[in-house]
Amino acid sequence: MKILVIGSGGREHALAWRLVQSKKVSRVYVAPGNAGTKREEGLYNVDLNSVDEWVRFAKEEPIDLTVVGPEAPLSQGVVDAFRNAGLAIFGPTQLASQLEASKDFAKAFMMRHSIPTAAYATFEEAALAHQYIDQQGAPIVIKADGLAAGKGVVVAMSLDEAHQAIDHMFSGALGGAGHRVVIEEFLEGEEASFIVLSDGENVCPLATSQDHKRLLDGDLGPNTGGMGAYSPAPVVTPMLHAKIMREVIMPTIRGMKAEGNTYTGFLYAGLMISPNGDIKTLEFNCRMGDPETQPIMMRLKSDLVEVLDLAVKGRLDQVHLEWDRRSAVGVVMAAYNYPNTPRTGDVIVDQGVSDLDSHVFHAGTAIDDKGQLVTRGGRVLCVTALGDTLRVAANKAYQRLADIQFDGQQYRRDIGWRALKN
Ligand code: AMP
Ligand code: GLY
Repeated sequence: MKILVIGSGGREHALAWRLVQSKKVSRVYVAPGNAGTKREEGLYNVDLNSVDEWVRFAKEEPIDLTVVGPEAPLSQGVVDAFRNAGLAIFGPTQLASQLEASKDFAKAFMMRHSIPTAAYATFEEAALAHQYIDQQGAPIVIKADGLAAGKGVVVAMSLDEAHQAIDHMFSGALGGAGHRVVIEEFLEGEEASFIVLSDGENVCPLATSQDHKRLLDGDLGPNTGGMGAYSPAPVVTPMLHAKIMREVIMPTIRGMKAEGNTYTGFLYAGLMISPNGDIKTLEFNCRMGDPETQPIMMRLKSDLVEVLDLAVKGRLDQVHLEWDRRSAVGVVMAAYNYPNTPRTGDVIVDQGVSDLDSHVFHAGTAIDDKGQLVTRGGRVLCVTALGDTLRVAANKAYQRLADIQFDGQQYRRDIGWRALKN
């Protein structure tokens, strides 16, 4: 089979790397990909960047199965366009991807289906939003309704901060994403990423994972797209796993179907788990997580092409995923000044090599005119390793990371700390 992966991040590198190991694969293309997918054996970058270009390429090639990495093409309707052209693609339709593309849609949906989530209110006028937070007090959470590439959520610890966040969002700084704002009750606890595959009817959970959203050690500093992740996340006990499936995942898949908005694709529930084991849904993403995908793909033993092929055929009930029993840890190396405008063009030097139990997944990387590997985005690399325990996996990832250098590099030294502390 010929496979097309859409996207250019670390998530797409990890997906493509796993897909190309399938016995069923003849070729894996990545559109547009990055320097890592360009150099990876068996992967081919194609410089295509729009829905029309992807459809045309998939028809001409022809591509047997397309997998979408990021949310933007989903909310642009890439799945609808492929299906209309008779092409197989794994992902949600434009309408279904509103679960991620509109926080207000997701919150209202959760209310209709009694899916546990934080109390909230939605505003289209700044004055009313200001009034509401004065009533509610701080801490409080302000979210732009639309897609904002990880910049749309402010966890305000003071009323000042909350008022500023509202002004910022309504000022148009986030474009259309901030025309509507969701204000949400502040929740405390431990977060987990719970990702499943759905064919619209059947659901197949992936291994659990935990992301590290803040830039600095100890979960300090600004929010980012994610500075590292590990799998499995021990906070999700077998009992909690069953509860999440029962209270969050199944009601979502069934509810979407019942509303005539059948959900197919990866579904990512970002969860807050309180100390007494209550779960609340913080957000839905219509895709895999980045960097959660990197450790999850290191652990996946099943043939991913076979699995996704069954998924697009509505036969996920026949799938039982097999996982490496070991833990995986991925540490993100970010560019200078990330998460603000990152500097690009810094030369990346890697003096080591990966083995079977480690892999360096690329995200914001490129090859410059001189043939050098350089930074080209905020999150640059995700150094990922497997180990018998989380500690061993983390040590191995950090050892591999020590081989790699670029000016201005930033990374957290404590990926996995919550689980390691226990
Ligand atoms: P989201 O994109 O909605 O997941 O929000 C990004 C991050 O903000 C989450 O991963 C949490 O760390 C934090 N966050 C979101 N909603 C809440 C909430 N209601 N209470 C506390 N923290 C939150
Ligand atoms: N790592 C969080 C996300 O992919 O949204």
